[in-house]
Amino acid sequence: MTLATAARLRFTVNGRPAEVAGPGGRRLLDLLRLELGLTGTKEGCGEGECGACSVLLDGELVASCLVPVAQVQGRAVLTVEGLAREGRLDPLQVAFLETGASQCGFCTPAMLLAGRAFLASGAEPTEDAIREAIAGTLCRCTGYTRIVEGIRLAATDPPGAAIPAPALAPLAEAGGSPAALPSGAPEVVSPGSLADALAVLAAEHPRPIAGGTDLMVGLASRAATAAWPLLDLGDLDELRGIRLEPGRAAQFGALVLGALTTYAELRRSALVAEHLPVLAEMAASVGAVQVQNRGTLGGNIVTASPAGDSLPLLLATDAEILVESLRGRRSVPAAAFWPAYRQTALASDELVLAVRVPLPVGRHVRFRKVGTRQAQAIAKASVALAWREEGGTWRDVRVALGSLAPTPVRALATEAVLEGQRPTAALADRAAAAVAAEISPIDDVRSTAVYRRSVTARVLRRLILDAVPGRKAG
Ligand SMILES: Cc1cc2nc3c(=O)[nH]c(=O)nc-3n(C[C@H](O)[C@H](O)[C@H](O)COP(=O)(O)OP(=O)(O)OC[C@H]3O[C@@H](n4cnc5c(N)ncnc54)[C@H](O)[C@@H]3O)c2cc1C
Ligand code: FES
Ligand code: FES
Repeated sequence: MTLATAARLRFTVNGRPAEVAGPGGRRLLDLLRLELGLTGTKEGCGEGECGACSVLLDGELVASCLVPVAQVQGRAVLTVEGLAREGRLDPLQVAFLETGASQCGFCTPAMLLAGRAFLASGAEPTEDAIREAIAGTLCRCTGYTRIVEGIRLAATDPPGAAIPAPALAPLAEAGGSPAALPSGAPEVVSPGSLADALAVLAAEHPRPIAGGTDLMVGLASRAATAAWPLLDLGDLDELRGIRLEPGRAAQFGALVLGALTTYAELRRSALVAEHLPVLAEMAASVGAVQVQNRGTLGGNIVTASPAGDSLPLLLATDAEILVESLRGRRSVPAAAFWPAYRQTALASDELVLAVRVPLPVGRHVRFRKVGTRQAQAIAKASVALAWREEGGTWRDVRVALGSLAPTPVRALATEAVLEGQRPTAALADRAAAAVAAEISPIDDVRSTAVYRRSVTARVLRRLILDAVPGRKAG
């Protein structure tokens, strides 16, 4: 297998078969709008932030500006044009009309698809749940209340009115033109096995792509992208799945999380819920549903942003990153994986296979992230705290911090203050003072050093206070 592979892609759009050729690294958004003429899908930011380009891919809400077309091979795309059935608007569309959920209409296609995905999930249509489902799609007009009402109406009492829908033009004649496509999209090779992927990586050094939520943003901002071929990891079953490894001495076992595990999968996993629920909490704080459906643990680790949410947790839990190349397999401790700003210990011919998180008996882990707002916020500071409880005292304490320095860091002096102690309010104060003294936060566009120092100390103090026996958590 070589990078020259440029197969025709076959998939369905709104239930109808489609087949396209051309570079697999172009955006699904452009394919839909410019080639297939499906202009109901809108472009806002082009960076995964606004949600205007949202469509359903095999039923999951995704930002089509972040999906390379190579990854739609064999899959089903649903756009707003495909919501109507048998010439009639879908009850969700009718509900939007009845509640006045659409004003200028720019966000409406994406809101309808977010609503469709929510209804299909079978979740209880509470206000909070609906707001979470649409949090990745911005609306400038409605204040969201009417959109929430529209989705709730469709969930609880779907309107029966038969409102005719416009007929769809055949895809090929829908008015799009490949000539209108932005030039320079990269080629993508999509190997079906890890062995093939490693061989291509060693020979031709393409850039791996998993969910694309970091990489596609970078691609959009680069002019000469065609020279930067991509290696699609999406078909590598070896990088999927979450399993429990049997225990060794003094350990309950370990959770092994495939590199392609998405945030949505972390949130849904029964194994994570049972053995390391803090991972699901972390996943729930990453981006909004479109990013959670596509973004992967492996991508977060290799992007190596100091604001990457999984990084402090992996440091605090003594995780190991399992990597492989044609030369063999090795395991890198998280503590050695991010040597410098946005750098990793990966060699250019290596892929991340999985993350192994040991599960010592009696260990507790807490994580808190501070951002500008609840949804879609990149961390200004994040704190992961882990300890093993032994007769009321804390052992093997880890304090790992994100977004403060060029890499995620352990606060070793603060850990020493906590090691071997019983959690008390006085200890929480001492640890807060220690961490404020120990860290040297950075000033950047997201926050100031002064704020980061004080918020990190306050968050750590709160996490310790919440663990003091008999104290009410808050
Ligand atoms: C709107 C928005 C909000 C976001 N919010 C957050 C947030 O709150 N917190 C946060 O931490 N991140 C956030 N991100 C960043 C991003 O979603 C995460 O970092 C995500 O985990 C990246 O995973 P991915 O699969 O999409 O990576 P990709 O974009 O596919 O790849 C990222 C990098 O990792 C490499 N790579 C991927 N997988 C492997 C592998 N198995 N082996 C070797 N290399 C690999 C790629 O070559 C690339 O360099 C956000 C992004 C967007 C667009
Ligand atoms: S255009 Fe804004 S998320 Fe895709
Ligand atoms: S209705 Fe105008 S942006 Fe939402």
